[in-house]
Amino acid sequence: MGMRHLIDFGDLPRAEWDALYKRCSDIIDHPADYMDACKGKVMASLFYEPSTRTNFSFQTAMLRVGGSVFGFADPKSTSTAKGETLKDTIKMVSGYADVVVMRNPREGAAKAASLYSDVPVINAGDGGHMHPTQTMADLTTITRLHGGVDGLSVGLCGDLKNGRTVHSLIKAMAKFKDIKFYLISPRELAVPEYMRTFMRENGMWFVEVTGLETVMPQLDVLYMTRIQRERFVDPLEYERNKGIYVLTRSKLERARKDLLVMHPLPRVDEIAIDVDDDPRAVYFEQARYGMFARMSLLIELANQPRMSPGAVEIGTQPVCHNPNCITQTDHYLPPLVKKNGGVDCCAFCDAQLV
Ligand code: NCD
Repeated sequence: MGMRHLIDFGDLPRAEWDALYKRCSDIIDHPADYMDACKGKVMASLFYEPSTRTNFSFQTAMLRVGGSVFGFADPKSTSTAKGETLKDTIKMVSGYADVVVMRNPREGAAKAASLYSDVPVINAGDGGHMHPTQTMADLTTITRLHGGVDGLSVGLCGDLKNGRTVHSLIKAMAKFKDIKFYLISPRELAVPEYMRTFMRENGMWFVEVTGLETVMPQLDVLYMTRIQRERFVDPLEYERNKGIYVLTRSKLERARKDLLVMHPLPRVDEIAIDVDDDPRAVYFEQARYGMFARMSLLIELANQPRMSPGAVEIGTQPVCHNPNCITQTDHYLPPLVKKNGGVDCCAFCDAQLV
């Protein structure tokens, strides 16, 4: 496998995902066969932001394949609180571990970490940008419960601007055939422009709508998301949009009998509790599939040889204007640029460089 880090699902070739999924599926069916697959390997778990599922499922995944885990779930207990840079923390931690799992509130932080790490880095969520291992959980759920991903009509509903799980899922779906996306959000929480450019570039079918009920009968998958309160710069914008979509049992009456109702969790109020007993509600299974998907990924990455990343150009000031980009705080990062739809974009957070 060519993969060294998992930062953005878009960078993962389809064949590599297929191999990861094949093993994931085999782990689900024969977990005992994988008990020692990471024996002697150590995972560093760096959570600079709150997490329940991602943190716990990574930890249990590593334990279930025979490895061990160290790390933190609160950066206040580390030298970050003394002003240590991400670069220094990663350089040091990658000296202790065989694989680094990191969640960080800054967009592009995982990419930044990968520049300095001697071992593979896994993005467990970088601000409102990407969350590729949630996508592994999502694709596993769809494939196991629906038989495949090609040809699906997928409704993505809620905070599509700040929801990193949505961005990663769209990137992943570009690798499958004939996907139709119904992007359901208030206008001010629509997908970022770089995602729209990505979908157009990849010839993906999508419509942007504000109402959930009207598209409900079309959907094979309904992916609900939380309004991401912590990402709002303007608290009034959050107040205007909170509680805007609530999936109830009665709304599901117009839905297909084999619909999959998914949610990365945590849920706030966007799915009524009485939906939980509907057989179409699969979000708790989805969370469990996430652990198996992470087992498959850790087996791949924790067993790779250590490799020094080499010298990295030292930046002076950020070229990216996204206030949430890691380059805004960590000025030593190199001014990396990539193309998206022919436009120059920040290689850390994907924002267009204007
Ligand atoms: C998501 C996240 O952290 O982005 N949760 C998760 O990892 N399962 C979704 C969310 O917080 O809304």
